[in-house]
Amino acid sequence: MATAPITVDGDRLWRSLMALAEIGSYSDARTGLRGVNRLALTDADADGRRLVMRWLREAGMQLRIDPMGNVIARREGTDPGAAPVVTGSHLDSVATAGAFDGCLGVLGGLEVVRTLDERGIATRRPLEVVVFTEEEGVRFGTDMLGSAVAAGRISLADAHALTDRDGCTVGAELRRTGFAGDGPARFDPPHAYVECHIEQGPVLAHAGLTVGVVTGVQGISWQMVTVTGRAAHAGTTPTALRADAGITAAQIVLRLREMVDSGGFGELRATVGHLAVHPDLTNIVPARAELTVDLRNPDDARLARAEADLAGYLAGLENSQPGIAVSTRRMARTNQVPFDDRIRQVIADAAADLGLEQLSLLSGAGHDAQEMAAICPTAMVFVRGEYDGISHNPREYSTPEACARGIDVLAGTLLRLADE
Ligand code: GLV
Ligand code: MN
Ligand code: MN
Repeated sequence: MATAPITVDGDRLWRSLMALAEIGSYSDARTGLRGVNRLALTDADADGRRLVMRWLREAGMQLRIDPMGNVIARREGTDPGAAPVVTGSHLDSVATAGAFDGCLGVLGGLEVVRTLDERGIATRRPLEVVVFTEEEGVRFGTDMLGSAVAAGRISLADAHALTDRDGCTVGAELRRTGFAGDGPARFDPPHAYVECHIEQGPVLAHAGLTVGVVTGVQGISWQMVTVTGRAAHAGTTPTALRADAGITAAQIVLRLREMVDSGGFGELRATVGHLAVHPDLTNIVPARAELTVDLRNPDDARLARAEADLAGYLAGLENSQPGIAVSTRRMARTNQVPFDDRIRQVIADAAADLGLEQLSLLSGAGHDAQEMAAICPTAMVFVRGEYDGISHNPREYSTPEACARGIDVLAGTLLRLADE
């Protein structure tokens, strides 16, 4: 079978990426750029999925949609009974996205299939390209949702019951958009899973390299913290008589930064990306504040210690501030996930065959691959991003050449694994 390196059609890949980026596009006032807004299971996400499904069908693939709305496109192998080699990623985006996060992995998988078809290359194992549902977690609050159900970490019922800020459930939105599929919710274990993704960080660019082999993903902890105080008139209420939920929320934000700066939690990252006060009016002391806490750490024990430290701090706030109550709700939680050594080596070999120098790096972002790693040998290819690797932002950018090289590596990797 084909062992000489094959290269994909980089122009075609780029055209696909740019055409998909038109769907859900908006004019971003802060950057002056066109951004992408395809929150999971919105009309824009559904439109994007349907476009990509059409392309996958036109490439001769058989499609099915599972009960989580994951789309599985299959290119048959010469041994159809063999476990497939799977690639893919997500098409849903954050509300202020660029064109690459997730899309490169799905459209890269499509480009590999198009290239194999053009060259008349058959593989022993079937190849599957998967579009996972709600990877970002920004609409329904839990990231990697579709892949977590496929891998069995989250039950289908729990996933369907999650709601967005307007109270719409995942289940209802799957039905409304036509993506409530059937068949088993859990995947049969594939032979291997390999995902290509833009790095979303500065490491490869700073090293002057185009591709990287991902060693794993750091632990991620998301929680919603709600502070309840007492509304009061801003002009008439003496400070001593206030229970100001806004001040308590601000203290929590600063405490998180102190935890990071203390160095006591290793490489802890802490982010409050959502902070809202109620009733959100100039002359009223906030009665309630709601904030999300995103903690990440490559070290599980340190992540758990940071969570415990924060919980202790929140309890202390409640005890020391009359009229203030603090509650938390866990949104998402995953430990660090190491990727498979052998698959990493296959990726490194595929890069070497193409004459590409690469380095190994840990992923700071969550990915569907970390869920698939629970059911089959898994690893990822990273592609260099520009502008310090900025991502979740319209400025996210990877060059056409870098995207093509990343998908060349993906192609070489998938071909090797599919002939095992
Ligand atoms: C996914 O994009 C994440 O938040 O890591
Ligand atoms: Mn992503
Ligand atoms: Mn993302």
